[in-house]
Formats: sequence, C-alpha cells, structure tokens
Amino acid sequence: MSEKILVTGGCGFIGSNLVNKLVADGYSVNVLDDLSTGKKEYIKESLREKNCSLTVGSITNLSLLETLLAGVDVVIHEAAKPDVRASTDNLFTDFDTNVLGTLNVLQAMVKNKVPKIVFASSGGTVYGETEVIPTPETVPLAPISHYGASKAACEQYVSSFSSLHNLEAISLRLGNIFGPPSNHGVMYDFFWKLKKDPTSLEILGDGKQVKSYLYISDCVDAHIQSLKSTITGHMTFNIATSEGITVNEVANAIVKSLGLTEVKYTYTGGERGWAGDVKKAVVDISKAAKVLSWKPVTTTELGIQKYVKWLKEENKK
Ligand SMILES: NC(=O)c1ccc[n+]([C@@H]2O[C@H](COP(=O)([O-])OP(=O)(O)OC[C@H]3O[C@@H](n4cnc5c(N)ncnc54)[C@H](O)[C@@H]3O)[C@@H](O)[C@H]2O)c1
Repeated sequence: MSEKILVTGGCGFIGSNLVNKLVADGYSVNVLDDLSTGKKEYIKESLREKNCSLTVGSITNLSLLETLLAGVDVVIHEAAKPDVRASTDNLFTDFDTNVLGTLNVLQAMVKNKVPKIVFASSGGTVYGETEVIPTPETVPLAPISHYGASKAACEQYVSSFSSLHNLEAISLRLGNIFGPPSNHGVMYDFFWKLKKDPTSLEILGDGKQVKSYLYISDCVDAHIQSLKSTITGHMTFNIATSEGITVNEVANAIVKSLGLTEVKYTYTGGERGWAGDVKKAVVDISKAAKVLSWKPVTTTELGIQKYVKWLKEENKK
C-alpha cells in the first residue's frame, strides 16, 4: 500500500486500534499524539514495523503539523478532548484542542496539498435532543454540550475548507464506541463499580437514557471504508449500531457477563446522567451502508461480552 497517512490522536482508544489495523494492512502511518491521555504502549507492536512512526507533539502546534504533513495523502483526525462531562468546566482548553487544533490540521493540509481528511465527529452529541429518531444526517445540528458544539464547529470548518480548497472530506459521526483498551465510558464505569461491590450498582440518571453503541472493530472498519471510498466534497455519516439500548440494559449485560445475580440498582435520579447528557441518541445508519458499504457486524451484547472478558483478563495481571 503506497498511501501515506497521518493519524492524529493515534495513541488513544480509537486511534490505536485504527493504527494497528492500518499498519497490519500495509499503509504507511505516522502518528501524532501528545500522550495526554493516549499511551505509546497501545501501538508498541506497530511501532516495531518500518511502516509506522510516532511523533509526540500537539495539534495545537501549527508549524509542527506543517512539517509532518509533507507528502501525506490522507489525514485521519482523532485527536481531541473527548469528555462530554469535562467540557462544561474545561471550555477553553477543549476549544483550543478540538476547534483550533482542527483548524491547524486543515490549514497545514492546504499548505501541503493533502487531498483527503477523515474526521472523528460525534453522532451522540451533535444533534442534541432531536425528536427525529433514528436520526438521519440531514437533521440540523443543535448540540446541548460544549463538547458537541466543538465537534459541530469542526464539521463546519471541514465543510468550508473542503469547498474552498477542494478537499475530499468525511466526517464520521461516531456513536458510543466501546471495547479494548478503553478506560472510560459507561461500561468501564459499571465494570469497576461491580468489581468493588458485586451486590449493588449506582446508575447515573434514571437508567432510561437510550444510546447507540458500537464495538471498536466496527468503528475501525468504518474508518477503513472511508479511506477506500471516493466521494466529492464533504460528507457526513452516522456510525453506530442502528438500535439504541437503555443504560439499564447496558447494566444488565455487564452484570450477566460478570456472572452476577441479584445486583441491586440505585439511581442518582433525573432524566440525564450529567449536564449535557442526551436522553435519547439513536442514529440512522443507512447512508453509511449505501455510500461507504459499511455495516456493523458485532451486536452490542456480543461486544459487551468481549469487552468484559478483556477487562477481566487485563485486571488479573
Ligand atoms: N470514544 C467514543 O465513544 C467517541 C464517540 C464519538 C466521537 N469520538 C471522537 O473520536 C476521537 C477519538 O476518541 P477516543 O475515545 O479514542 O479518545 P482518547 O482520549 O482515547 O483519544 C484521543 C487521543 O488524542 C490525544 N490528544 C489529545 N489532545 C491532543 C493534542 N492537543 N495533540 C495531539 N494529540 C492529542 C490523546 O493523547 C489521545 O491519544 C475523538 O476525537 C473523540 O472526540 C469518540
């Protein structure tokens, strides 16, 4: 494979899974990551290969990006501050990374004539509390969290850069992605709470929030299909499973995977788990099926079993 790819945030949860797949498939990959939350060890096997390298640095550094993008064919842009809850308090840090960082990536692409970008947006937050369920990509963006606002802003810039500079641009509106080696999110949280106390589980909100989840290998496949597809201008795609499940159902699946019975659920109350939490986020994925020839293959239930198995093994060590 002769394509040269820069993956920003390639030491993070999604980025590292993607980098490992791209390197195994023979792409030439450079990773840019400031290691603020990501870990070099997640891609250590790939870094032994001659088609993989890591630059430790930040997307807030425009001149670094301008140097790194020389000769690159595609940017896969994953680097971000991805914590919805923290985005309320960390408004300006998140803006600097998510929005200004993305502007730097786009500017450096133009300077180096890099023709294509795949951007990790967020299907769970950009639509806000729409009543159109499942939500297609045509529904207007109305985020209710600062994190969602930052992703929506990035998409708008990806669109304007695409139009002004003829970039091929794909924004993947990802659902709640889970699987190894993720160390955040509702499933991780439930696993640890139940490990500490296998008899009771505190659930944030009323447990009735409904979300679209997606196992990590399907998320990686969506990125690979985006690389392989040729589109014109900027296109957005919802990437998740098409059925939403409630937080209570997630809890039941984790409890079952751990082989527990008679766990007592307690609730912090209210319709949301935290400020900015969308009560119902279920997306329509038919556009990705049609244009990217992508569909999820792992059910949420099977994904949870695999993830819990991994968490158990990891924490035996
Ligand atoms: N995980 C999900 O459920 C989900 C859902 C929707 C969208 N996304 C988006 O997908 C992307 C990847 O998410 P993730 O879950 O893997 O998060 P993550 O935190 O595991 O990965 C983000 C990576 O970016 C790096 N990073 C942060 N700031 C940086 C900077 N200034 N310069 C360079 N690197 C920097 C971190 O060190 C980390 O390796 C993010 O853009 C996130 O917003 C994630």
